[in-house]
Amino acid sequence: MIQDEILKLKKEKNAIILAHYYQDKEVQDIADFVGDSLELSRIASTTNHKMIIFCGVNFMAETAKILSPEKKVILPVKEAICPMAMMIDKEKLLAYKKLNPDRVVICYVNSYADVKALSDVCVTSSNAEKIITTYKDQKMLYIPDKNLGTYLKDKYHLDIDIWPGFCCIHNNLKTDEVDTMRKAHPKALLLIHPESPLALLKMADYVGSTKGIIDFASKSEAKEFIIGTEEGILHPLRKRNPDKTFYLLSEGLRCYDMKLTKIEDVLRALKEETFEITVDPNILVDAKKALDKMLEMS
Ligand code: 13P
Ligand code: SF4
Repeated sequence: MIQDEILKLKKEKNAIILAHYYQDKEVQDIADFVGDSLELSRIASTTNHKMIIFCGVNFMAETAKILSPEKKVILPVKEAICPMAMMIDKEKLLAYKKLNPDRVVICYVNSYADVKALSDVCVTSSNAEKIITTYKDQKMLYIPDKNLGTYLKDKYHLDIDIWPGFCCIHNNLKTDEVDTMRKAHPKALLLIHPESPLALLKMADYVGSTKGIIDFASKSEAKEFIIGTEEGILHPLRKRNPDKTFYLLSEGLRCYDMKLTKIEDVLRALKEETFEITVDPNILVDAKKALDKMLEMS
């Protein structure tokens, strides 16, 4: 079986397999650890394994490399990218900073190393609220996710400029879809990821990261939930809560890039050790400062 081959090779090569909650079920089930962006960053920064096979999208594998530069970090499918991470680049950020030198730059991890290197601190959807509110008396810029930024700006009345990037999956959600699902499942609670538009976040019973959503649903006394994030999360939700029912808010909640990695790719990545992530050492040092600061503050 392919799973046995993966386990054998993983041991021989002293590798750890990390997978995001949005990965295919089969990939999640073969991983040593399945988590959200923050949990996976933490593991990448502390693991003793020589090699990390990162099942996710490329900014996540790059983040693992920055946090553990001495490890070999492999992304099984080279084409797995996050479109949001490409909605900001170094040149545009430098131009903004020149005009606004007094703003603290807060950078969502869904970004590349050269952008992180120009930022004061990174955040994920798990710790953005905590970290951003510690700067609440200062002027800030939040890059690149307009929805998470707008949500926190609205909630805490912050002086924060917001970059116009977005997640093509969450940003597409519509309030009509909430109305339809609520009518169909009147007892269900709506749990939604902050990469979604503000109008939907205001309708939610809970707003949080993928791990936040899983924890909330697992602890809740409620039995039915409408889930406003990528469908991969249904696998851990159902595994941990066999007595509860989960409905996906929209059929559009499928991240094409997250779903590119198949179990066969994990095996190939272990065999061939491709595709290795590299980061320019000069950029890495500054990007690591922003990520280390995030880990300290969260
Ligand atoms: P989490 O921080 O909840 O993992 O979400 C990040 C994300 O957008 C994955 O694409
Ligand atoms: Fe990027 Fe959205 Fe896919 Fe996450 S779900 S990897 S933010 S496109």
